[in-house]
Amino acid sequence: MQNGNLTTRIGKLVMKNPVMVSSGTFGFGEEFEDFFDLNRLGAVVSKGISLRPMTGNPPPRIFETEGGIINSIGLQNPGFQEFVKNRLPYYKNLKTHLIVNFFGNTQKEYIDLARRFDSVPGVSGLEMNISCPNIKRCGIVFGTDPRMAFRLVHAVRKATKLTLMVKLSPNVTDIARMAKSAEEGGADAVSLVNTFRAMAINIRTRRPELGNIIGGLSGPAIKPIALRMVWEVGEAVHIPVIGMGGIMSAEDAIEFILAGASAIQIGTANLINPRAGIEVIHGIKKYLIQNKIGSIRELIGAFRG
Ligand SMILES: Cc1cc2nc3c(=O)[nH]c(=O)nc-3n(C[C@H](O)[C@H](O)[C@H](O)COP(=O)(O)O)c2cc1C
Repeated sequence: MQNGNLTTRIGKLVMKNPVMVSSGTFGFGEEFEDFFDLNRLGAVVSKGISLRPMTGNPPPRIFETEGGIINSIGLQNPGFQEFVKNRLPYYKNLKTHLIVNFFGNTQKEYIDLARRFDSVPGVSGLEMNISCPNIKRCGIVFGTDPRMAFRLVHAVRKATKLTLMVKLSPNVTDIARMAKSAEEGGADAVSLVNTFRAMAINIRTRRPELGNIIGGLSGPAIKPIALRMVWEVGEAVHIPVIGMGGIMSAEDAIEFILAGASAIQIGTANLINPRAGIEVIHGIKKYLIQNKIGSIRELIGAFRG
């Protein structure tokens, strides 16, 4: 058998490789097409979409720290209708999966959106964000309370036949408990982590660096914590885990896979190196071949504890 098979599976989705680009860090795809062939990705995850358009938080909305960035974009997005009319056609031409990331302010909005996307051609799966850390109303109660998360996922599950991933917040004491609630609610997979609540102060002006004061930290600074959480979740659930948080290279991605991730997402790295996605795919393939490993599936959770 030839070594280096990258195929992986998430719910009903068979992906040609385990590398996705994460929500909010890859524009609407088009912006990256000059850098590499997007069809090579395992999947593209859209910016978070809500029922109605959202303008997001006041500027400044991104602040660079050592080892990462703090963002308070506030889930700015064009809303369902505009997304389907003007953004989806581009994705539809791609020969890779489109996962739509979505969120609501209420349970009813989550259900409504899941039902609407269920009948939209060209959508392979849904990533339900119950974890947005930097807007005031959305998801945060759902994302930190296991019972509410269970109820929400259970209700959304009934509204869609698409592969349903639930994206978890790291801003909790016991992330494995949250993952189990999502699994019991009927999620096909969990993805983690979203950003960590964070802030920065300008000591000259004594003002916050972000218009919203608080934002979400991402990038290499969070990688060791994200990795620990992916491992804990992988031990606790039977559904696939999609790992992310500071993945900058193929080596980082392999660490997450060894910890238990069936697939990974690249986020902040896209903003630093727009070719990060393709470089990670090549790097994982090379690792498999060099180590004479037949399939990526042999690596999932294969770390020796
Ligand atoms: C600028 C920016 C915008 C983001 N927007 C979203 C979003 O709309 N929905 C979402 O679920 N996550 C969003 N995220 C979180 C990322 O998808 C990812 O979970 C997080 O950044 C951790 O991965 P990383 O360290 O590789 O960036 C955003 C992150 C950044 C940096």
